[in-house]
Amino acid sequence: MEITKRSFGMLPDGSEADLYTLSVGEVFKAEITNFGGVIMSLWTPDRHGSAADIVLGFDDLQGYVNKHPYFGSIVGRYGNRIAGGGFVLDGVRYTLAINNGPNHLHGGLHGFDKALWKAEPQQRDDAVGLRLCHVSQDGDEGYPGSLECEVVYWLTKGHALEIHYSARTDAPTHVNLTNHSYFNLNGHDAGDILGHEMTLFAEYFVPVSEVLIPTGQLQPVENTPLDFRTPTVIGARINFEHEQLRYGLGYDHTFVIDAQGRGELRQAAAAYAPESGRVMEVETMEPGVQFYTGNFLDGSNVGKGGVPYQRRNGFCLETQHFPDSPNQPQFPSTVLRPGVLYQTATIYHFSTR
Ligand code: GLA
Repeated sequence: MEITKRSFGMLPDGSEADLYTLSVGEVFKAEITNFGGVIMSLWTPDRHGSAADIVLGFDDLQGYVNKHPYFGSIVGRYGNRIAGGGFVLDGVRYTLAINNGPNHLHGGLHGFDKALWKAEPQQRDDAVGLRLCHVSQDGDEGYPGSLECEVVYWLTKGHALEIHYSARTDAPTHVNLTNHSYFNLNGHDAGDILGHEMTLFAEYFVPVSEVLIPTGQLQPVENTPLDFRTPTVIGARINFEHEQLRYGLGYDHTFVIDAQGRGELRQAAAAYAPESGRVMEVETMEPGVQFYTGNFLDGSNVGKGGVPYQRRNGFCLETQHFPDSPNQPQFPSTVLRPGVLYQTATIYHFSTR
């Protein structure tokens, strides 16, 4: 197990970003940059033992500096949408940056995906890691409170990628951190993910309006094309005539893992690519997981090795609280108050079959 560091280039403001390579043996590796906390590459073995890079991304820093659909990024302060770009907290109305139709998405115009995090290599008996820290100032993108965040990535000997998030604030605010990696278990350049088998351990999903804001109810997945309780090929029903698939242009929905939001580590999802044999299982402490099938990719993002990422060339499993929780009091709360430690974790396990 080892971690090495090299320069990833210069940001427009003259500061320097680094790229860390975390390796566990020859076939399990990740490259992570402290710019946006981006997982730039993730190499795992297929059923014959040969490694491929299974996350979408860019070869160079500029790709991540430019506007892009959050490839591999840490998303904050708030993963997913907040309706109308605002909320009332303790009787005070806060106005956030609006960057997605009428809504606030993924932390705003300059979210955590555009922050240069402080990085520090970590070691554990069974893992090699990278600790990233970022302070989001009071008023950042409209949010109240100065928020100190820490994200630790671990690559374990058992072929897991662990992501541990924590944060503290000096004034009441909302927090909902996630990682926005796009996976293709056949390789980032292997075309669409429609042949992958997906399992989502969810009885309910969060139905949304045309602008992808929750209606406020939870809807049973039963008898809908969003029922992934048993392994189902992603492409099998993605084009079915269904209001939710029409609004999402495919799957772009939060699946309910724990409606109570108890913060216990639970099995959320499992994906299997029959071609390569790769399996990815996801456990999370979050109440939900956003299953997004890369519906907005259109070939305009030219990624690693010059590969243009087309529609549905990757899928995301963004573990998170439900969208728009600041305006939906019946959802598990995303409020963080001074003196309380925000703590959550998600684990991606890799194996083959
Ligand atoms: C999330 C959202 C999608 C889209 C992507 C980024 O998955 O739910 O609607 O914004 O991020 O393109």
